[in-house]
Amino acid sequence: MRKRTILGLHGFSSHSDSQMHDAGVCLMDQNGVIAAIDEERITRKKRDGNFPVQAFKAALHRGGLSTEDITDVAFVDRRTPWQTYQVWKYAISAFFQTGVRPWGYLRFWIKKMLQFKRVPPKDVKAKRVRFYEHHLCHAASAYYPGPFIDTTIVTLDGMGDFSIGGMVAKGESGQIKVLRRSNGYFSPGHFYMILTEYLGFVPGRHEGKITGLAAYGDPRVAYHTMQEIIRYKSGELDFIAPLVAKEFFSVIRSTPGTRTKQWYSQQQWDEVVRKQKIRYQEEKTLIEFRELWDNYSKEDIAAAGQARFEDIILAHIKDAVKLTGFSNLVVAGGCFANVKLNQKIRELPEVSGLYVHPNMCDGGLAAGAALLHLQAINKNKVYEHKPWEDVYLGPEFSEDDIEKELKSSSLSYSKSEEIPKVAADALAKGEVVAWFQGSMEYGPRALGHRSLLAAATDANLPDRLNRKLGRTEFMPFAPIVLIEHAHEWFEDWAFDHVSSRYMTVTYDVVRDRREEIPAVVHVDGTARPQVLERGINPLLHDALSHYYTRTGIPLVVNTSFNMHEEPIVCSPFDAIRTFKNGAADVLIIGPFIVRIT
Ligand SMILES: [Fe+2]
Repeated sequence: MRKRTILGLHGFSSHSDSQMHDAGVCLMDQNGVIAAIDEERITRKKRDGNFPVQAFKAALHRGGLSTEDITDVAFVDRRTPWQTYQVWKYAISAFFQTGVRPWGYLRFWIKKMLQFKRVPPKDVKAKRVRFYEHHLCHAASAYYPGPFIDTTIVTLDGMGDFSIGGMVAKGESGQIKVLRRSNGYFSPGHFYMILTEYLGFVPGRHEGKITGLAAYGDPRVAYHTMQEIIRYKSGELDFIAPLVAKEFFSVIRSTPGTRTKQWYSQQQWDEVVRKQKIRYQEEKTLIEFRELWDNYSKEDIAAAGQARFEDIILAHIKDAVKLTGFSNLVVAGGCFANVKLNQKIRELPEVSGLYVHPNMCDGGLAAGAALLHLQAINKNKVYEHKPWEDVYLGPEFSEDDIEKELKSSSLSYSKSEEIPKVAADALAKGEVVAWFQGSMEYGPRALGHRSLLAAATDANLPDRLNRKLGRTEFMPFAPIVLIEHAHEWFEDWAFDHVSSRYMTVTYDVVRDRREEIPAVVHVDGTARPQVLERGINPLLHDALSHYYTRTGIPLVVNTSFNMHEEPIVCSPFDAIRTFKNGAADVLIIGPFIVRIT
């Protein structure tokens, strides 16, 4: 069969200034993934939603391909007529269920929908261009790279295709069968975004901080307010949240003064304000939520919100597993960026195995679209399930590339044949190590190719590192641990917990070991480990092994290599700039060691 090269694409078009968030691309052929990259990493704009021209170029470069090689384009999100039908269907259903009025939103949709046209990148002459439903892309991103051939699939996020909040599906012998969709206007994802905004953080970006903050509060104090806001409807596998829908319908319409920036990144929002000359009045947003929550502490609100979020989604997962008859579960969508929720799911007796797609937010959709399209191409072939072994799918730089950048940086550097040992020595001395090796990770977590490493034994490290990086966090840092020792440190951890290789699930740290590694244990006794197998990342595994020999501790802190509010570094240029800004004491980049002298 003729070689097919598929471009999975999450973005509108290079002719449009309409924006989304997390634009990205994934290149595949019949043998598997060639590259998967989110636009933000190349443009250096966090959660960049512009058409992913730069990520596309970088993906072609990684694959040694040119635009003419692309034979198929698989877009995320279906076409406007289908979306319009869904938008009306779910908006009207929300109105009949709760009385919230969607008319302003529907007017907004009619005005805007033609701007949401999607066109392949310039010079791509693909014969086939297809459009795949947003949540089906999330589902595919969790199913095909995951470990289970027969499994329940659940997706949940803010909203996809402008109306759908999630999907329950069944993955069986390579086929995905959609069983349920949920109403996006009652989305638990939007509920959590509202919580984030109310607590003074940036929705769509800082939800992880709320999860961390929740551990400091009492979930019972304000729980009843959350029950009022969002409920789960068991029989229908759907949610109902009138205030969330009302907020959405009121904020999205373009009446000056009632808009809010909550659905935009700061950069997108600045553009909206500039172009449409709107007047933003913070006090006119979240009015009903303020009335419900203003009498409680921020910690108690975060705790109750997190508890409610967990309770309704756990009930939904139990129903989904019952519906499909499969106790293995794969998940994707922004709601599953919540590591505490994922721990509770993993602990459900109804769920025997859990896989969270490593790029669970919309950044992972391009891979989902490409995988769906590949499956469509291969529909007459015998299905072979090929789980992903890692997500090192981004740009890679040669020793020459790195050295060229070092030479122009005016930093002095040396080369070593014993990189793992050098790293272990620095870590044992208490230094923060910036570690840049191999191809960049796909997804929001640094998984040992673009990481900052440090000793987990130092209780003062979180403060010191947060100061260095200009971060404010309620979560401690996460550990990276040798797989051979993971069971000694994390309760219930088992070798087949694939998600623990991508830092997507928390575990209870073994009680009497918590004091040994204070930098990575949260106030509730949990940690979010990345469990490291040698075959996946031999260099870092060797470094940790040396560190273990010296200290008796088989784990260190692993956090993303970036300054506050920046995407994780991509190139040697980014790494050197971030290092110069004071991110670490030593930079280990390829075979080179750099210190500020
Ligand atoms: Fe999504």
